[in-house]
Amino acid sequence: MPITYHEKEQLFHLQTKNTSYIFGLFNNRHPVHYYYGKRMENITNVGFFLSQENSRCGVYGIHPTEFENNLLMSGDLIPAEYPFYGNPDLKSTAFSAEYKDGSRITEAVYKSHIIYDGKPKLSGLPATYVEDDSEAQTLELTLHDDVTGLDIILCYTAYAEIDAICRSVRVENNGADKVKLTSVLSASVDFLDKDFDFISLGGTWARENQISRQPLFFGTQSTESRRGSSGHIHSPFFALARPDATERHGEVYGFSLVYSGNFICGTEVTEFDHSRAYIGINPFDFAWQLQPGETFTAPEAVLVYSDTGIGGMSRTYHKLYRTRLARGNFRDKNRPPLANNWEGTTFHFDEEKILAIAKKAKEAHAELMVLDDGWFGERNSDTTSLGDWYPNLKKLPNGIGGLAKKINDMGLLFGLWFEPEMISPVSELYKKHPDWCIHVPSRPKSLGRNQLILDLSRDEICEFVIDFLSDFLENNPISYIKWDYNRYFSEIGSVALPAEQQSEVAHRYILGLYRILETIKTRFPHVLLEGCASGGGRFDPGQMHYFDQYWNSDNSDAIDRLKIQYGTSLVMPPIMQGAHVSEAPQYPILRHTPHMTRGHVAMTGQFGFEADLSAVSDETMQEMREQVALRKKIEDVVNFGDMYRLDSPFEKDYSSIEFLSEDKSRVVLFHCCVLGHRNGPHYFVKLQDLEPDATYVCEETGVEYSGSVLCNHGVMFMHRQDFESHLYNFRKK
Ligand code: DGJ
Repeated sequence: MPITYHEKEQLFHLQTKNTSYIFGLFNNRHPVHYYYGKRMENITNVGFFLSQENSRCGVYGIHPTEFENNLLMSGDLIPAEYPFYGNPDLKSTAFSAEYKDGSRITEAVYKSHIIYDGKPKLSGLPATYVEDDSEAQTLELTLHDDVTGLDIILCYTAYAEIDAICRSVRVENNGADKVKLTSVLSASVDFLDKDFDFISLGGTWARENQISRQPLFFGTQSTESRRGSSGHIHSPFFALARPDATERHGEVYGFSLVYSGNFICGTEVTEFDHSRAYIGINPFDFAWQLQPGETFTAPEAVLVYSDTGIGGMSRTYHKLYRTRLARGNFRDKNRPPLANNWEGTTFHFDEEKILAIAKKAKEAHAELMVLDDGWFGERNSDTTSLGDWYPNLKKLPNGIGGLAKKINDMGLLFGLWFEPEMISPVSELYKKHPDWCIHVPSRPKSLGRNQLILDLSRDEICEFVIDFLSDFLENNPISYIKWDYNRYFSEIGSVALPAEQQSEVAHRYILGLYRILETIKTRFPHVLLEGCASGGGRFDPGQMHYFDQYWNSDNSDAIDRLKIQYGTSLVMPPIMQGAHVSEAPQYPILRHTPHMTRGHVAMTGQFGFEADLSAVSDETMQEMREQVALRKKIEDVVNFGDMYRLDSPFEKDYSSIEFLSEDKSRVVLFHCCVLGHRNGPHYFVKLQDLEPDATYVCEETGVEYSGSVLCNHGVMFMHRQDFESHLYNFRKK
């Protein structure tokens, strides 16, 4: 049983296969956090450090205390399970609200709890799920504030076989007056020491998910988004790693938020060298009016503990997110190798050009032709037409239906680009509905990529998006959508909401977006959905509940991609990461990478071509066919196996990645050198987790190795040329 309640000690013990998470009730009322880490069976006296007898643990009188029977104790010292604003715990808070009389004090204490098999859905929000109730147990702990009638329900799900604890929070207003919520984080965890490094993912457009690792220090540290969406710049994830933790060894705690809007991931180190970690919707520019009888649900936070290093943490996220967050027809299927025209033509194409690209794509054995931006309205540059979703007949005289049919007749599936959430000020839609964008009347409307954002906090605008997409998908043979999103928010406001609800717009927008995505995914289960946000600008777990894959970055330079894909894989599995072979050199890097290296790098994600294929040489065509064939050979292992990051491009001038099938019978080893050396050193890459006594045959070289040799001695590489890569396929004999 993953969740046990120890009645005498008033302890809740959540267990996954390898982890324990324990909290209890202090003074029968206040939830206190005791432990999160390696699995324990016997937990006698886990809370002793807070007992009266242990008088060495206490605070000096300057700290106020809410506990009349224990003056040494204070909220400032006690590890809180979910800290509220309005008591002596003055550290970073998870919950705050304003009440009718202007007060901001919340004292929510234990009211009841239930434990049950399975996992409930989160209303209107993406979340992990179970396929069978026996996979997990859920605890709902209700805390009640007598003065306001507020019930705050802390929800925990422990998966039995996956080392993940999923948390979310529900706030029910059971009082007589409306309440203004000003912060409802999804999770907070107090640790009794501060010996951690803070690992986060940050970057910018074309340089997403670069890994940063800094020691925790006294005070607060955070990574957060305030731009309406998770973004290129910050990702809704952080990890606390022991200073000696590496990819392969040591303790790491991961915190990941299944949400696509403004978020905060933070830590605070206290005067007692404790540390608090928290994650949730960013309280920045957020408030929510909760009327009597209404409920607010905070998004899901997924906590992962690993004592097998950062790699162990990532493999847990990959498994959970690939199998119990992603959904639909494509979840367990390999994806078609595709060809996309964007980098080859940008806006400048016509039907003839697209058909010429498709012809070559077919010859290269791609299976899907994607028509990117520029096919609608007067869209010959990024200055117009978002919202005018009808085909440009000058470019496509036979419309989308006609083009799609011709492409289908070639034996290819057809896919189409949309940017459904946007509106160009130069568009028919804007002329008709100038108030449909996110804005504040009488204030400037800053443009991003010449466009504004549709106000998805409004139901009628969500319906408009659902209708035009449904119309396209019902009337055309479209098998794939690339769903783009190309600007951040600014001047946030909605003309449809009253003054006191303007701080709800950013979250309401995300709820509207999720409603649209849910409808499209449910109505058109045969359509493969690829997300995109100027590359990886909104590539977060929330998106993974709807999109089958995600365009990882607008930077498809193979060497830059080594870091982008490596960093992204801290949380996101390879099956989600769109990666294409494109032209080299790419402006402005001017790096000449071999075509095969670009192929190998793309094969470690979801493979495709992105170029004007109509112009490629016979030699390149032959390589493209070889790449598709190799990709087909390894796709099961890359998509559904375990990933081991062996050598980091952030630390070395090369990168190695292993993919291992679940039954350990197949191994794919990718190795890419960034800088070559004349008469240079030898590099031995040691694999992980193979069967030690099994014999593995390398298909490319014919050499046989034992699992032990591959893991302990390693495979030797020499770096003779810059950007040289290898991809080895091992099969168990
Ligand atoms: C940004 C995307 O990331 C690109 O792949 C491409 O679809 C362009 N938008 C089209 O405008």
